[in-house]
Amino acid sequence: MSVTIILGAQWGDEGKGKIVDLLSAKADVVARYQGGPNAGHTVVIDEEEIVLHQIPSGILHPHTRCIIGNGVVIDPVILMEEVDFVKSKGFQVDGRLFISHRAHLIMPYHKLLDTTREAAEGASKIGTTGRGIGPAYVDKFDRCGIRIVDLLDRSTLAEKLLKNLESKNKVLQRIYDRDSMDTEKIIQDYLEFDRRIDAYVKDTTLLINRAIDASEEVLIEGAQGTMLDIDFGTYPYVTSSNPTAGGACTGLGVGPTRIDRVLGVVKAYTTRVGMGPMPTEFDTEFGDQMRQLGGEYGATTGRPRRCGWFDAVVVRMAAMINGLTHLAITKLDVLDTLPEIKICTAYRYQGRVMEHYPAELWIQEQLEPVYESHPGWLCSTQEAHSFDELPENARSYLRRISELTRTPISLISVGSKRSQTIFME
Ligand code: GDP
Ligand code: IMO
Ligand code: MG
Repeated sequence: MSVTIILGAQWGDEGKGKIVDLLSAKADVVARYQGGPNAGHTVVIDEEEIVLHQIPSGILHPHTRCIIGNGVVIDPVILMEEVDFVKSKGFQVDGRLFISHRAHLIMPYHKLLDTTREAAEGASKIGTTGRGIGPAYVDKFDRCGIRIVDLLDRSTLAEKLLKNLESKNKVLQRIYDRDSMDTEKIIQDYLEFDRRIDAYVKDTTLLINRAIDASEEVLIEGAQGTMLDIDFGTYPYVTSSNPTAGGACTGLGVGPTRIDRVLGVVKAYTTRVGMGPMPTEFDTEFGDQMRQLGGEYGATTGRPRRCGWFDAVVVRMAAMINGLTHLAITKLDVLDTLPEIKICTAYRYQGRVMEHYPAELWIQEQLEPVYESHPGWLCSTQEAHSFDELPENARSYLRRISELTRTPISLISVGSKRSQTIFME
């Protein structure tokens, strides 16, 4: 039995939900370690599409125990809606979902500050999901955040809330010219969450480490992707956490020596939602065509995703930073009808060839991709059940991705359904 981190190796929406759900069939524990309701993880069961935001994608297998770790920022309003939603689909949640008592809460003022700041930034906005993620992590690091444990003690909660509201109201009024928030209502609402959330709260660090000690199968689910990482992504156009592998250790309290495998999920091409550099982005017309072919609209906000060719520089960097042991390639089928498919192998900047992703935003914005061209396969891959059943051009495209990223492929997804998956030996 083993511990596997499954994370996004591009800009998010790589298909982590499908892969985590699939591998959960043989897992005992599935744990989320960072992010919050900015995530939208889609799982398709039969013909039905289920989108999860905070609950791990393993919840749709009745035998799993699911953890929301200390590194996640939790919006209790969305969480309770999600619990009800998952229950309404016929899955038991009570006794299977465990929330870290150390996790921080997203408060109404975090959401308001997120959207207000984005509106004030105008053209230079980040294009956040508006879920209050950044402001909640700011408070965590500013050491004034409110944690799940604080819900369990009324006077601590009221005291911390009052202090926070006093300063947040000043910012809202004086900087953004907004009305202040109703302190009493927020206290009442959060005391109500205390009542509901209590049953799920647990020392999840003990739970997951005991599961590892007992040689159980543990999956660790990332949200967002490597290029949205606060340290390694296209800063400042990133999210406010570490979706990279190190985040799994701090976001759950699992030591790095306990991790056996790190599976990087990548689309067979590239997408991004929100603002910021994306070197291989298509021009408008082809981008529109790919968006239609891939159904590329955000699972959380419904925004159209920007589309581009596979960027091997990005995934090579993701392989290094995360110590990827394997790749899961998703959405290969989306390329089925294209006569020519390109891979970006390096960039050109001011006449120089660059093989590594630069840190300077102004350089990132001017990178010219160096492409190599591959012939398309022009037939459906959706029914393929083994690597050998794929057309030769698809196989050589995949072999080249593996070679350029120096990472073996362990899984190929050729459709959104569980059955549309090829496991490599
Ligand atoms: P996540 O955030 O990484 O879990 O990914 P999202 O759920 O936001 O976006 C991935 C989308 O692609 C979802 O609509 C999935 O149902 C869909 N999907 C996943 N794998 C495949 C695949 O192999 N082929 C196709 N056509 N769709 C897929
Ligand atoms: P999953 O887990 C794709 C993007 C936002 C924005 C930036 C910052 O479904 O892959 P935030 O709200 O986090 O402060 O926004 O990050 N973003 C995502 N893009 N998939 C996601 O999650 C994302 N979560 C955040 O669009 O550019
Ligand atoms: Mg998503």
